[in-house]
Amino acid sequence: MSRIVRVELGERSYEIRIGAGRSFERIFPENGCRVLLVADSNVDPLHGERCCEELEACGVSVERVVVPAGEPSKSLDQVAVLYDAAANARLDRGSFIVALGGGMVGDLAGYAAATYMRGIRFVQVPTTLLAMVDSSVGGKTGINRPQGKNLVGAFYQPAAVVADLDSLLTLEQREYVSGLAEVVKYGVIWDASFFAHIESQAAALLGREPAVLEAVVARCCEIKAEVVAMDERESGVRAILNFGHTFGHALENTAGYGRFLHGEAVAAGMAFAAKLSVRAKGFPEEQLRRVVELLRRFGLPTGAADAEDWPAIRQAMASDKKVRDGTLRFVLAQGLGSVVFGCPVEEGSLEATFRAQ
Ligand SMILES: NC(=O)c1ccc[n+]([C@@H]2O[C@H](COP(=O)([O-])OP(=O)(O)OC[C@H]3O[C@@H](n4cnc5c(N)ncnc54)[C@H](O)[C@@H]3O)[C@@H](O)[C@H]2O)c1
Ligand SMILES: [Zn+2]
Repeated sequence: MSRIVRVELGERSYEIRIGAGRSFERIFPENGCRVLLVADSNVDPLHGERCCEELEACGVSVERVVVPAGEPSKSLDQVAVLYDAAANARLDRGSFIVALGGGMVGDLAGYAAATYMRGIRFVQVPTTLLAMVDSSVGGKTGINRPQGKNLVGAFYQPAAVVADLDSLLTLEQREYVSGLAEVVKYGVIWDASFFAHIESQAAALLGREPAVLEAVVARCCEIKAEVVAMDERESGVRAILNFGHTFGHALENTAGYGRFLHGEAVAAGMAFAAKLSVRAKGFPEEQLRRVVELLRRFGLPTGAADAEDWPAIRQAMASDKKVRDGTLRFVLAQGLGSVVFGCPVEEGSLEATFRAQ
């Protein structure tokens, strides 16, 4: 284990362990307990057995449950599958649920952990880059309903996050690159020198070079941890983590299922937000060029789609969860590393920005 990032949330504080390899030391009680290990059908055959052995080496007794891979499993049906597996394995208030996988499994298993017996402890073992830098940290759990993504959920912090960078080696390149979009996001919203670091290490990052990746994942987790510590329940500054997401979600929803991965849509959304920022907040053109250039180097999209898509995208933005009192609000950048949230934007600027892509 090479790096530890702490999320400081009083009695809900926890450690994020990041390195090549995993250590579950000191997470479970010394006299053992029961653990339900949850993975999806892609991750379980690749990493389930080894993770199970590592857990058992800590003296816990492990039951495994596998859910079908893919976003549709973030459902009430699969929550029920997990409740039944937990009950059949006789999990009690002293037991743990361990989520091994990407954000889908983390959100699903986290929600089950938050609600089974009114909440049992829960450990995130993220296996996608997106899960390592984003979804496993910060305590948001949830499932989808036909009426909306993440419509039902709970804020529920894990007891620990254990990220094994080696597990990324089996991840498809497209999924990996999609996670890089969130990495770029942290540079833009919080830390200009980190943004410059990502630029200088772009090739090494694309090649998943372990030492570079470790430092970058750790810095992303530090930033997310800092933001979450200031605003655990998203009543204020945590909104900055949604940079690029208003447009990104709209693009994801209108383009049709599967056309854009989340990070790809967010990349296009960040390019949109950065362009809007030039108009509305004086974000320097030169910095806009750097953002767009970096996303392109990663092979991420920086433009939306066809001009005729605008009405549908605009409408999808209007139904964004973050719309308050009917006004669409954006996270906009004043400069690299410095953003403001809750910015209303003139209607004309929105369409002009879209058309200028
Ligand atoms: N809770 C939060 O704060 C938060 C934040 C961002 C996203 N999310 C949620 O996260 C989900 C997206 O997460 P994701 O991108 O990790 O998707 P995912 O969990 O669906 O994983 C993507 C794909 O990669 C596969 N996979 C995972 N790890 C692998 C590995 N090591 N090797 C090979 N294949 C692997 C999965 O089986 C899946 O097919 C969405 O449901 C989103 O709502 C939550
Ligand atoms: Zn995101």
